[in-house]
Amino acid sequence: MKSGEKFVLGSIMALLVFSVIRSELHVEEKHEREIPYYSTATHEVAERANDIYRENGCKECHSLWTMKDMMETVPAPILDGIGSLRTEAWLYDYLSASNPQSILPTRLKKQFGMPSYASLPESDRRVLAKYLASLKVKDWYLKETREAEQKKLHGTE
Ligand code: HEC
Repeated sequence: MKSGEKFVLGSIMALLVFSVIRSELHVEEKHEREIPYYSTATHEVAERANDIYRENGCKECHSLWTMKDMMETVPAPILDGIGSLRTEAWLYDYLSASNPQSILPTRLKKQFGMPSYASLPESDRRVLAKYLASLKVKDWYLKETREAEQKKLHGTE
């Protein structure tokens, strides 16, 4: 092989390697810009659940879709992606428990812990559980979501 040919071949190889590395980097960049949270709920369920959510002051303690109350001071778990961490049945039981702390112990004073919503109509608890279960997180952000939730629950921040 002539040295000129070697040079051309070498350049092509270098370009190939470079473009592979670049596309790998691109994948990571894309993840950073992409929002990892999404909902699989129908419009109807989402609307109804949002009303119940608002009427019952959930956002005084929790954030969802990065929205939280200005006054929010309770370090409650973020609900984005909660449907990837808990099942609909678990969420329904939790919302129906007369003492939610018997399911999930609290590290907070009684007035800041999760209140009981056992007195809400059953249909409201069902819609809420269905909606919460529909709040998913993409696989590539599941680990971070789980870690953040555990930090809130156990206070290791
Ligand atoms: C007074 C503050 C407060 C309010 C209001 C509140 N929560 Fe909570 N919630 C918490 C706290 C704190 C926890 C963590 C467990 C604990 O400390 O009791 C929690 C836990 C949860 C969990 C379990 C999270 C996990 O990591 O598994 C869900 C789901 C939830 N709340 C949904 C709701 C919904 C839906 C509403 C409204 C109907 C609501 N919460 C209202 C404070 C609150």
